Amino acid sequence: MKDPVTFYPGAEGDQADADSGDLSILRSRSSRRAFIKGVIASGAVAGSATFLFGCTSDRPAAGSVERLLSLNINGKVRRVDVLPNETLAMTLRYKLGLTGTKLSCDRGECGACTVVIDGVSTYSCSTLTHMVGDRQVRTIEGLEGPNGELHPVQQAMIDELGPQCGFCTPGQIMSAVALLEANPNPSREEVRHAMSGNLCRCGAYDHYLNSVMRAAQGV
Ligand code: FES
Ligand code: FES
Repeated sequence: MKDPVTFYPGAEGDQADADSGDLSILRSRSSRRAFIKGVIASGAVAGSATFLFGCTSDRPAAGSVERLLSLNINGKVRRVDVLPNETLAMTLRYKLGLTGTKLSCDRGECGACTVVIDGVSTYSCSTLTHMVGDRQVRTIEGLEGPNGELHPVQQAMIDELGPQCGFCTPGQIMSAVALLEANPNPSREEVRHAMSGNLCRCGAYDHYLNSVMRAAQGV
């Protein structure tokens, strides 16, 4: 189990989302898409409404929380209306449309929701967005090169056939990126330890380990 202090994305797309089961009320791809768009839109409307009508003062009312936050996501400041009990995974996926971050267990057990905050791999399902402050959040979308190139870890995962179903892959990649930025030349055991908070139900662990070692060696 990953250190809970270690706060925490690959396979993009509808199939992974359809396989996720993270929103059981969504029975079809079309209804899921409509739901996500609706929530994103409502978030935008709520944010606008707050901006237009709700905030005649710069200060939140006593006992309340300022809901309109500025978050640094993938190097850009994003303004977003955040509920007091909202997790970063929910904000990323349903307010900001960054669906590369997956939600699976939604209780800090599987690592599918891993993002990197100030260089530390972090479970976004177990991080309140209001606790993020001005720290730098990186998601799988932030790994894209200026011309759309894959990050070396992403390429290594493809080369080593890491993803099977692929749902856990974004989280696996973000954990690997955090590790290699802190320790560019890890031993296989260090990689195993760093990736231990990312479960793969397909059991492709050796493939993932091989991928990270390949990326580290620049093969
Ligand atoms: S979805 Fe966050 S740890 Fe499983
Ligand atoms: S590749 Fe299927 S859960 Fe990891």
